[in-house]
Amino acid sequence: MVQLHTQRLLLRPWQSADAELFAAMNADSAVMEHFPACLTRAESDAMIERISNHMTTKGWGLWALEAPTLAPFIGFCGLWTVSFDAPFTPAVEIGWRLARPFWDNGYAFEAAQAALAFGLDTLGLPEIVSFTIPANVRSWRLMERLGMTHNPIDDFDHPRLPEGHPMRRHVLYRKQRANL
Ligand SMILES: CC(C)(COP(=O)(O)OP(=O)(O)OC[C@H]1O[C@@H](n2cnc3c(N)ncnc32)[C@H](O)[C@@H]1OP(=O)(O)O)[C@@H](O)C(=O)NCCC(=O)NCCS
Repeated sequence: MVQLHTQRLLLRPWQSADAELFAAMNADSAVMEHFPACLTRAESDAMIERISNHMTTKGWGLWALEAPTLAPFIGFCGLWTVSFDAPFTPAVEIGWRLARPFWDNGYAFEAAQAALAFGLDTLGLPEIVSFTIPANVRSWRLMERLGMTHNPIDDFDHPRLPEGHPMRRHVLYRKQRANL
């Protein structure tokens, strides 16, 4: 399974010791502000299972983030095969979630740069997308810092949320391989 190194981070497959820290992060209402709900321990563990299965099948995915010498687990960042139908699918997305103490250090940007380069240059994917709700300013600003672009024509209603749900509308950002 692929591991990626950056200046300050290791993007690695998940380990059993990550589960407790991941559950604490998923129970933090600041981290989960722009999701429909915080996750229970069981939901958090089930998410690791899905992430690990994707990683085993593909060899890459949503990597656990380690900050060597600082913290064994600070969150996740990486690539994910979009698992619902939308006008932009099939697609590979880039996603991220960091524990609150590790925001505002550029860690998400650093990890995401490595994941994007892996996806576009090493895997040779023609495009990577990312999406969030308009209120998640930190997330879409990160997409913009990464050079992803937004065309309002791509905005969509998330099919996993019911009609009328306040988080249903999403903005879509795209980044294409440089030599396309
Ligand atoms: C989205 C999320 C990952 C963004 O984290 P973040 O820390 O804001 O993002 P970055 O790693 O890019 O850090 C950027 C900030 O660090 C600052 N920074 C400090 N040191 C830095 C460095 N060495 N390099 C780059 N930026 C640095 C930047 O100036 C910037 O701050 P600013 O916005 O005040 O200018 C985080 O808010 C999060 O986990 N949210 C909850 C989960 C979530 O919503 N996920 C997305 C779902 S779609």
